[in-house]
Amino acid sequence: MIILGIETSCDDTAVALVRDGHEVLGSLVSSQVKLHRKFGGIVPEVASRKHLEQMLPLLDELFKTTHLSKDDVDAIAVTNGPGLLGSLLIGLSTAKTLAYVWDKPLIAVDHLIAHIYSNFINKVLPKQYPGLALIVSGGHTELVLVENNNKFKIIGGTRDDAAGEAFDKVAKILGLGYPGGPAIAKVAKQGDVVLPRPMINDNSFDLSFSGLKTALMRISKTAPTSELAYEFQLAITDVLVSKTKRAIRKFNPKFLILSGGVAANQQLRDKILELAEEKKVLHYFPELRYCMDNAAMVALAAYYLKSSQKNLWYNVEVATESSLFTN
Ligand code: KG4
Ligand code: ZN
Repeated sequence: MIILGIETSCDDTAVALVRDGHEVLGSLVSSQVKLHRKFGGIVPEVASRKHLEQMLPLLDELFKTTHLSKDDVDAIAVTNGPGLLGSLLIGLSTAKTLAYVWDKPLIAVDHLIAHIYSNFINKVLPKQYPGLALIVSGGHTELVLVENNNKFKIIGGTRDDAAGEAFDKVAKILGLGYPGGPAIAKVAKQGDVVLPRPMINDNSFDLSFSGLKTALMRISKTAPTSELAYEFQLAITDVLVSKTKRAIRKFNPKFLILSGGVAANQQLRDKILELAEEKKVLHYFPELRYCMDNAAMVALAAYYLKSSQKNLWYNVEVATESSLFTN
């Protein structure tokens, strides 16, 4: 079964063809980073207009480079949220239209579930559950209990900024450009700067990064940028690792997953790996190119969701919200 995946939830226009829920036949991402850089962040209206421009040429290129045609496609999968409304609309309209004119089933995929599945691209699914997923992106920071391959429970998350959002805002304060994550990692150098670890001793699985950003802003004029970047990155990593460790103690997961754009951060990967080894938990990290938004993870998720969750297997009609998440 070949599924065409479409993703436009934020600022990446992405399309992919995936066979049987693991083999990526083609995956294209048209990034808008350069376009938004001059604004220091994503401008939603600009993003949706760019998606509209990019979508059809990108689909043409995908079919051309994979030497496949619409007749090879068995179903169409599309991200239906969460995300920027105008951006989501372009992907959804495209997917609905193609499903209608090509007469193919349409599968709506939650963006967070897709990020979880990014770990299983070109791999087999774990055999034992539950698992624990730390999703860290520009829009999300959530700890999710993966009860089985179609049941997910959010056990904690950020109360304000997402981890990636905090990276982006701090990079803007420090004049390092956008996207913030890689820019901060690049200049980070150990020094004497000390920043707080918000909510690290709190018993919940919730996080907060907005105060950390304010603390950094207060000393940003006097402390060296490289040291601020180092301490900020370390503070975020420390809190994420500590909350993950607490969740491992409570839920005793059989595997650990790291997902989202911030999963590309080397320091976070190293520390989560260390934790997984210490706790002897099986771990999965997405390949770097699948950390960021992509459509391969959407097509892959759709394959497993459709086989286990009938109400996500639509014929042209798309639900506005996934019923798979519980709080
Ligand atoms: O998953 P993603 O592509 O888009 C969303 O769904 O939000 O994540 C983008 C985020 C940005 O905030 C970016 O600064 C962050 O991922 N990011 C990083 C790194 N690479 C990207 N954060 C920390 N370290 C990195 N190396
Ligand atoms: Zn994302």
